[in-house]
Amino acid sequence: NVLILDFGSQYTQLIARRVRELHIFCEIFPYNQLPEDLSSFKAVILSGSPFSVRAEDAPHPDLSQIRGKLPLLAVCYGAQYLAHFNGGEVAPSATREYGRANLTYIKDDEDFFEEIALNSQVWMSHSDTIKSLPPQGIRLASTKDVENAAYRLEGEPTYAIQFHPEVYHSIDGKQLLENFLVKIAQVPQNFTPNAFVEDIVVELREKVQNDKVVLGLSGGVDSTVAAVLLHKAIGKNLYCIFVNNGLLRKNEFENVLLQYQGMGLNVKGVDASARFLTALEGISDPETKRKTIGRVFIEVFDDEAQQLTDVKWLAQGTIYPDVIESVSVKGPSATIKSHHNVGGLPDFMKLKIVEPLRMLFKDEVRRVGASLGIDAELLGRHPFPGPGLSIRILGDITPEKVRILQEVDALFIDGLKAHGLYDKVWQAGAILLPVNSVGVMGDERTYEKVVALRAVESTDGMTADWVHLPYDFLMKISNEIINKVRGVNRVVYDISSKPPATIEWE
Ligand code: XMP
Repeated sequence: NVLILDFGSQYTQLIARRVRELHIFCEIFPYNQLPEDLSSFKAVILSGSPFSVRAEDAPHPDLSQIRGKLPLLAVCYGAQYLAHFNGGEVAPSATREYGRANLTYIKDDEDFFEEIALNSQVWMSHSDTIKSLPPQGIRLASTKDVENAAYRLEGEPTYAIQFHPEVYHSIDGKQLLENFLVKIAQVPQNFTPNAFVEDIVVELREKVQNDKVVLGLSGGVDSTVAAVLLHKAIGKNLYCIFVNNGLLRKNEFENVLLQYQGMGLNVKGVDASARFLTALEGISDPETKRKTIGRVFIEVFDDEAQQLTDVKWLAQGTIYPDVIESVSVKGPSATIKSHHNVGGLPDFMKLKIVEPLRMLFKDEVRRVGASLGIDAELLGRHPFPGPGLSIRILGDITPEKVRILQEVDALFIDGLKAHGLYDKVWQAGAILLPVNSVGVMGDERTYEKVVALRAVESTDGMTADWVHLPYDFLMKISNEIINKVRGVNRVVYDISSKPPATIEWE
């Protein structure tokens, strides 16, 4: 188990991901919330930070429980912090130290740089620089502009690097982390999907014992994997509820419900389409739509949960990025993202929360799902927003608009699958615009709806690029949509990236 101490860097999550790629479990803690008991940790990594160590309000944590006791790797701000407070000198750098650089010097015979060759490319991102090392410091590497690119402290297992090994542009970054964690700190590489499943099943059994647990399934990857894990742990004491809000994809409710039943889950499908669509009548404002759907969902879910007696726990598919986000250190210029899963529990439900996936990244959830035998097609599904098609129907929502969009979306998604494009795209969908345009069909003029198609590449939805789908494919799909879906006479393709656009249109 590795402890990552976060000083608010935008790259802290990436450090955790790289460490996990080495099959080593790690946890991020804010620098000011150091766990009291460090006995389960085998190594510590200090992250970068948007602060300057010289600033008064910068993080200045007490590392006396760590220094010399546990192998320590300090990255960027961490490296400057160690230098600054141990007799070295940190000052604003004269040249811009941002972007790619190459290691022009590497000290021989150091485990830390084993299998890393001279000239290896690293990624720098800092405005302060380490002018001189502490008296204890031994220089391990330099670049053209950064003399003290890496150093260690004599007499203790403490290493410091000015560059970012977690960023992909640091070509040997993963090797460096492996050298530190495996060769130097001797952390075992035993964090695998199977090991996770074994441990979490025991943990879940201990936690919920013979209590009943209720869980809302959405058809998405996270809630499905959470359900299968809990099912494995507590069997029939898990009660799943799958709500049809009338805004799912075409036939999704029926298909996914069958799939869940096929997995042996104890699941109740609740078709509340009419209730949602009635509540949404006449509402055009996107935020009001979201709130309305959220409110009705809680009402429906609560009605169902009340019918189960003696339920003590509510299970949620919260994953690690949501958890990190809710505790993360906010730097001077950091923006705060709102997210969907943490803290959404209405008070009156008064249930204890269990979150089997709260320590996993999305790709790990998929791998755990695969090791549990969940269908690859279900695990590879694109993300789909909670408010469903409602935020892809711009303006007010009617059953007819939902029908049109479901038809269009199905043709688009099935087309992507048929052409082997679905798995190359991170998320895809169609948007029904509140615009009519003129067309001709046979001898007649039409005045019908415009739909936009959207397909993006992304890793986490925070940034996204539009996908260059083949023209032939777009041509075929556009024809198919206009010929088959009554009420649509024009198809456009969205070629905006995020930022400055967003993935959804509302
Ligand atoms: P945006 O549009 O913000 O979307 O670029 C980023 C990702 O978040 C999804 N999204 C939502 N998911 N409730 C959700 O559960 C929402 O209100 C919501 N809005 C956007 C979006 O589909 C994309 O994956």
